[in-house]
Amino acid sequence: MADNELFPVAADWAKRAWVDAGKYKAMYEQSVQDPSAFWGEQGKRVDWIKPYSQVKDVSFDKADLHIRWFADGVLNVSANCIDRHLPKRASQTAIIWEGDDPSKAESITYQQLHDEVCRMANVMKAKGVKKGDRVTIYLPMIPAAAYAMLACARIGAVHSVVFGGFSPDSLANRIQDCDSQFLITADEGLRGGRGVPLKANADAALKTCPNVKTVLVVKHTGGRIEMAAGRDVWLHDEAAKVPATCAPEPMNAEDPLFILYTSGSTGKPKGVLHTSGGYLVFASMTHQYVFDYHDGDIYWCTADVGWVTGHSYILYGPLANGATTLMFEGVPNYPDASRFWQVIDKHKVNIFYTAPTAIRALMREGEAPVKKTSRASLRLLGSVGEPINPEAWLWYHRVIGDGRCPIVDTWWQTETGGILITPLPGAIDQKPGSATLPFFGVKPELVDGEGKVLDGATEGNLCISDSWPGQMRTVYGDHQRFIDTYFSTFPGKYFTGDGCRRDADGYYWITGRVDDVINVSGHRMGTAEVESALVAHPKVAEAAVVGYPHNIKGQGIYAYVTLKTGIQATEELRKELVQHVRTLIGPIASPDLIQWAPGLPKTRSGKIMRRILRKIAENEHSALGDTSTLADPSVVDDLVNNRMNRG
Ligand code: WT7
Repeated sequence: MADNELFPVAADWAKRAWVDAGKYKAMYEQSVQDPSAFWGEQGKRVDWIKPYSQVKDVSFDKADLHIRWFADGVLNVSANCIDRHLPKRASQTAIIWEGDDPSKAESITYQQLHDEVCRMANVMKAKGVKKGDRVTIYLPMIPAAAYAMLACARIGAVHSVVFGGFSPDSLANRIQDCDSQFLITADEGLRGGRGVPLKANADAALKTCPNVKTVLVVKHTGGRIEMAAGRDVWLHDEAAKVPATCAPEPMNAEDPLFILYTSGSTGKPKGVLHTSGGYLVFASMTHQYVFDYHDGDIYWCTADVGWVTGHSYILYGPLANGATTLMFEGVPNYPDASRFWQVIDKHKVNIFYTAPTAIRALMREGEAPVKKTSRASLRLLGSVGEPINPEAWLWYHRVIGDGRCPIVDTWWQTETGGILITPLPGAIDQKPGSATLPFFGVKPELVDGEGKVLDGATEGNLCISDSWPGQMRTVYGDHQRFIDTYFSTFPGKYFTGDGCRRDADGYYWITGRVDDVINVSGHRMGTAEVESALVAHPKVAEAAVVGYPHNIKGQGIYAYVTLKTGIQATEELRKELVQHVRTLIGPIASPDLIQWAPGLPKTRSGKIMRRILRKIAENEHSALGDTSTLADPSVVDDLVNNRMNRG
């Protein structure tokens, strides 16, 4: 790959952007040399009820691990996203909602946002929700999802948003893990013209969640649902009974704002906990500088609020900045492959942020669906969720942006709260496929397997050697897991789980996960989770799951399955297993390929050698490496000979 294929910052960009090359260098230097002074200044971008006197209080030493920012400050996140804008922006659009059905759209002003959020907050209070309580939100991409999150923030409840594509089982696990007693859902979601039975899923989940006392139901499609007497109430009924004002609860900077579950390399998904002050400062600052957001811009991030991208860059970052943020209920190819570009023209979108998997899928449809739209309003494009291959980057740049719009390839994670490595459009020349350089205050390090820091142009494990305000604070209910997962592999550093290359210009190129996490269409999936779903099937004896390169999804899910003795390996059973995983976890966990494996390659101590399984799935049989330590080397021949064609 040509490391020197440069897309330099255009002169007009350097001039109009918040940050140009000189300013980036100076600000970056200051941010890493004197983080307390730098963030002490930046912290003022949000309104504090009681200003902080401390800025950074952090130790990455696992014996004394703590991460605190602005620790004695008091603020309210919802007041920062709404109330403080009202004097100037009461009638400005805060949220543009575009429905799945192209004839449905809505504009919500900051004043309306205020009123809706206050009503929902009052309903929650009336139903007994208190500061510190966990509230689970299982909603489609409708304005009520934003109201619900902000209403939690307003009263100091901790939200846990569960993506609407997750199964009843996954929802139940997440409700139980944080013992949430209040659920907000809708009758149904709508995606690509098809209903998603959210309330029915919630009813199924709640069979194993006896602690949930109240379910607040948003009427969206009007589809028929069951309402459990004494438990389920309609939002519109309750909201009519309460006032449209609700005083924001004063929150400590380090009080929890939300929990978001994400997959790890082992065990069940972990509840990533983010707190209030540092998270908001970081989401707001990154949103302003990375997307070069200026007053009046129309900004659209296509993520779902069920993922961290939706939290930080549909909701909190943009609203903290008084932006107009677009929320889209639908999918890229409904009614047709032109939808994204039609929405851009319809709402005059200036900044567009999406995932490589969507770009690759639309690229396959050719240029015609794009070229029949104008996209003249577009100024900046963004990418997130997985490495973007240079071919997709170039198509995005040339076809979608008409060669006119810079692309910000933003690397970050649920754990980081906001963007850590990215170009700034007025400051950093882009290279297709590279996330380029660190954001302010971020100190990336590449280390080898032994933890030795590697200098210069090199490749290694990506760590971050010091804290930034948006960093997660703990795994909810399991602080030890937080320490073990992120601070123990390479002591004294935050380990990201990603591999990364640094080129001679100091640019970072994320190469993908180095742990047992796979990235399917920009969604994170733990191989262990899919494996345990498979072995939960009565006919399965053992399963091993790995990722393999997939043209559209980035990575596909490849499962090796050993059946119990006497069970016939049939096409029908294969379909049944895929369905079984979908039911247990959700469609995003569906195995793409299942190979019947009479045996799995194991060491003599019984450990599955995933390295070998990965190579077979990747079709690199010649690079299997040393198989002599296997208990039974012949199983490898069988797997190689019967590998699935990944097409
Ligand atoms: C993992 C985090 C960040 C919000 C969405 C995903 C991969 C993310 C990039 C990028 C290469 C990327 C990494 C990371 N990833 N952005 N621009 N280039 N890889 O959040 O579900 O927590 O997943 O996504 O592997 O570790 P997530």
